[in-house]
Amino acid sequence: MRIWPTPRFQVRLAPGLHVSNARHLLWHSYLVRGLGSSQCSTPNESGGDVVIVGAGGFGRETIEAVRAEASSMSHSRRLIGVVDSDPGRFNLARLASLGVPYLGTDLEWLGSNPSAEFVIGIGDPRIKARVHRRFIAAGLHPATVVHPSATVGSNCVLAPGTIICAGVQVSSFVTLGLHSHLNPNATVGHDAVIGDYVSVNPGAIISGRVTCHSEVLVGAGATVLQNLTIGSGATIGAMACVTRDVPSKAVAVGVPARWRG
Ligand SMILES: CC(C)(COP(=O)(O)OP(=O)(O)OC[C@H]1O[C@@H](n2cnc3c(N)ncnc32)[C@H](O)[C@@H]1OP(=O)(O)O)[C@@H](O)C(=O)NCCC(=O)NCCS
Repeated sequence: MRIWPTPRFQVRLAPGLHVSNARHLLWHSYLVRGLGSSQCSTPNESGGDVVIVGAGGFGRETIEAVRAEASSMSHSRRLIGVVDSDPGRFNLARLASLGVPYLGTDLEWLGSNPSAEFVIGIGDPRIKARVHRRFIAAGLHPATVVHPSATVGSNCVLAPGTIICAGVQVSSFVTLGLHSHLNPNATVGHDAVIGDYVSVNPGAIISGRVTCHSEVLVGAGATVLQNLTIGSGATIGAMACVTRDVPSKAVAVGVPARWRG
């Protein structure tokens, strides 16, 4: 897992972000190969164009979050559309219904020298890592999206690319890594560390002081008990209850969760 630098905090209360109890969001610069601190964007200071990568289900969750955020905040971030290398007819029809332009494949769009920020509306952690590398190589920067109905506690760190969907609850002193995704109604407990490209599916519960290393997928409705560590690339099955540390790349299912090897 990437080691986070000492935060250079910019403490601000996001206007209109309806975080309960006047909680503050703490944004910090971070060191990522190829990214500097000036490229860390926040919803309340960006105001620029944003593109979503991925036309599927999580892409549409991201559309909802971007739109809700834009309509609730004073900045004027504009969703310019969605790129997808293979959207399929169903997803294209859904985009049309939502009035969101399809901008072409990743390569087509990147070839047009775009200047928008991007977020990755794809749940698969390994695909997220690949997309991130491709877009960073093209000189683009990730945005951070927080649905206004989510609550984020004090002293949290949200890395670029983080997407927090409707109804999510993030407690205090939580660190969310690059392109970490919290799906609707997920909960992340105090002092948890969520690594890069982690996806937490709807309704999952990450308890206090849990560490999820990079590229972990936590299935819908799963619970990870407090103080545990989930190794990089591990998958927690839907509705599992994790009671022990999970090794890297393991697929853990059931109550209590078990895995092979
Ligand atoms: C755990 C998981 C990754 C396994 O996927 P997979 O490797 O494709 O597994 P399969 O569907 O081939 O199932 C293999 C076996 O595991 C069982 N299994 C699959 N998922 C399970 C789960 N979450 N809990 C318990 N058992 C599960 C299957 O019943 C099957 O058992 P069998 O061999 O006795 O028939 C997947 O089922 C899962 O839970 N993913 C998360 C899905 C999610 O969160 N969806 C919400 C999206 S918004």
